[in-house]
Amino acid sequence: KEFIISIPASSANLGPAFDSGGIALNLYLTLKVAESDQWELISQSSFLPTDANYEENLIYQVAKETAKRHNKQLPTCKLTINSDIPLARGFGSSASAIIAGIELANQVCELSLSPDEKLTYGTEFEGHPDNIAPSLFGGLTITSKHFKNDVDWLRIPDLDLDVVGYIPEFELETKAARGVLPAYFSKEQATTASSISNVLIASLFSGNYELAGKMMENDLFHEPYRSELIPHYHEIKKEAKRCGVYGTVISGAGPTMVSFAEKGKGKSIAEHMQQFLQGYQISALQIDTNGL
Ligand code: HSE
Repeated sequence: KEFIISIPASSANLGPAFDSGGIALNLYLTLKVAESDQWELISQSSFLPTDANYEENLIYQVAKETAKRHNKQLPTCKLTINSDIPLARGFGSSASAIIAGIELANQVCELSLSPDEKLTYGTEFEGHPDNIAPSLFGGLTITSKHFKNDVDWLRIPDLDLDVVGYIPEFELETKAARGVLPAYFSKEQATTASSISNVLIASLFSGNYELAGKMMENDLFHEPYRSELIPHYHEIKKEAKRCGVYGTVISGAGPTMVSFAEKGKGKSIAEHMQQFLQGYQISALQIDTNGL
């Protein structure tokens, strides 16, 4: 048995939709699976360690756990991994690896997992669903993990937007970027922050991208605290605005930033921004609408 699993990257938060909104992007983690008589892991990406012991690999660990939940044992496989998703930059590389593991177990153990089961499992491994859902389903997803650990979600498959990604050379671990956030918000802060998020989502659903961009740039949940961790945060926002983007935000926990722009304009904005900014890899990206 041989097959390929391909999972898109994602950008979470979109500013105020903290731990809830996410968008799938056309950078992919690809896993080639062949059943074999022993475990073998070949990684063909500069973003992944090449000499990885398979037991330490997140994809393997998640697959093993997923099989175990269904009282199955994972058959030995040869895994060939390729990835264009940079690690620890804010493009959901760990969520993509987690989904690869779930889908690996799903296929080799014939678990017939439903989309909701994949989302729930992925969220348990990752802690929050905002990168898991877009990588699974494609497009823009809005999720809510509430008290019983259920995850409810909605999806907009098509947004008329281009995305420009500003990827710096340095890494930022999500744990460190979560560490700078306040543990509590006052009632007034929480109400204002969630009202901004509500208007963001409503404007994205109704295609009012000007308003969406305004809301993106007025996040109160995390950007004011994380902006300190990202050199050029303010310059990138300002110059991108001069190029006419709707809004620029931190991608997930950073340090990558992303701008949302009118469809068709991403490439020229990326080219301009690359001239403007040293030490960043700047690319025009598309929204992936297929997911896993
Ligand atoms: N919503 C998460 C955060 C995404 O901003 O911390 C990164 O895992």
